Amino acid sequence: MSEVKFYYGEEVPLEMHKVRIVQKINLKPVERRLEAIEEAGFNTFLLKNDDIFMDMLTDSGVNAMSDKQQAAMLEADDSYAGSTTFTKLDNKVREIFKKEFFLPMHQGRACENIISQVFVQPGTIVPMNYHFTTTKAHIVINGGTVEEIFTDEALKITSEHPFKGNMDIDKLNALIEEHGREKISFVRVEAGTNLIGGQPFALENLEEVRQVCDKYDLMLVLDASLLADNLYFIKQREEKCKEMSIKEITGAISDLCDIVYFSARKLGCARGGGVCTNNKEAYLKMRELVPLYEGFLTYGGMSVREMEALTIGLEETMEENMINQGPQFIAYMTDELVKKGVPVVTPAGGLGCHLNAMEFLDHLPQTKYPAGALAAALYLVSGVRGMERGTLSEQREEDGSETLAHMELLRLAMPRRVYTLSQVKYAVDRIAWLYENRDLIGGLTYVEEPKVLRFFFGRLEANSNWPEQLAAKFREDFGESL
Ligand code: F0G
Repeated sequence: MSEVKFYYGEEVPLEMHKVRIVQKINLKPVERRLEAIEEAGFNTFLLKNDDIFMDMLTDSGVNAMSDKQQAAMLEADDSYAGSTTFTKLDNKVREIFKKEFFLPMHQGRACENIISQVFVQPGTIVPMNYHFTTTKAHIVINGGTVEEIFTDEALKITSEHPFKGNMDIDKLNALIEEHGREKISFVRVEAGTNLIGGQPFALENLEEVRQVCDKYDLMLVLDASLLADNLYFIKQREEKCKEMSIKEITGAISDLCDIVYFSARKLGCARGGGVCTNNKEAYLKMRELVPLYEGFLTYGGMSVREMEALTIGLEETMEENMINQGPQFIAYMTDELVKKGVPVVTPAGGLGCHLNAMEFLDHLPQTKYPAGALAAALYLVSGVRGMERGTLSEQREEDGSETLAHMELLRLAMPRRVYTLSQVKYAVDRIAWLYENRDLIGGLTYVEEPKVLRFFFGRLEANSNWPEQLAAKFREDFGESL
């Protein structure tokens, strides 16, 4: 990507890479898509990739690697202990995050497991800008509670605020005062806040959070899984960072945090994860659990090939021309949908384009899972697979009632460097058609509902024959077309 201007007007993001390996994808007829979504219990997690045209479920572990990452994988040093490959990764993490100690782990939630086991005690609270599903599950399983301290801007679907992922400093102070410092395990900040639409925090806000942590002597923990997008937005939108390099901004962020953890399925375009810190005591406590849950300290559940790819991937993440591809494609898609009147989260964030299902399907109450219904409907009419991010993904209250999500979003993740602009245009076309036919979409009900993280394996049924009616309307309008 670059800031290249087009002479004849239309401004589109321009890739700064070329494709050298491709994978065939299938666009099945609507009749098969109807069968497939029924077989999947109307849960897009349960679809088979063979039935999917554009997989916009997630960016996790599915970003395109560079030729240099692929090449590095060939020279991986396969040894259980003391692998040279690990040393390379260790050095790179220490260089980029400027932390002395690094613990490799198999993915992001493994870091959350170990951090929560060590630092969350029953009855304690973890304040954060916003929760992520696996983060919350680990904190809750260890007896803690999550308190979300977002600004009033965060939940506004349409906004021009550049940093909707910021924490509200007054509310953070008030929360700590109310419960007392001893009740707080640590403060967590999530980069590129996933569940509110990939929205960033500002470096300035993180500095203020740090001051609060200093005042109360609390640890600040950064979830850096979506840091790449957040770095791009800080560089673009925060005046004082305009002249800083991506690496300098990363260093400045990391300096403010006691513990940094990440999913390398997102950050670094590989698969794996890890935790780094300068706090030796914290490091030693977490280290004890790594061989128990992850593996020896020089691989932590990661394959050596992935560690090689990650080392290069982290270095490439420090290039603005690399990390701007996702946000620029997402901005393009979001802008095109806005032009067609489709309700989306603005400003466009990182991670993906987010449709506002609450407005898209304003005839459905939250208990009928509008975002889940929209995910099923979009797959049906396009073969595009998105992910529900709303009430369907929440855990029920202890009394069995629904936890109504703050937002009902359909997330269309943009795996980095994977889809072309024409594919994005196809998705926009089908979404716009679906919006015109939104009245045909009905609700969903769980028929099999797991207690924890129910959205992964839960099965649902349609509340009427709306999927058949939608498929029939598709045939009517598109004729023989796929
Ligand atoms: N933190 C954030 C902000 C995440 O987005 C994720 C994963 C994790 C932690 C957990 O990392 O998957 O490597 O265990 N998000 C994926 C997603 C699952 O699709 O958004 P993991």
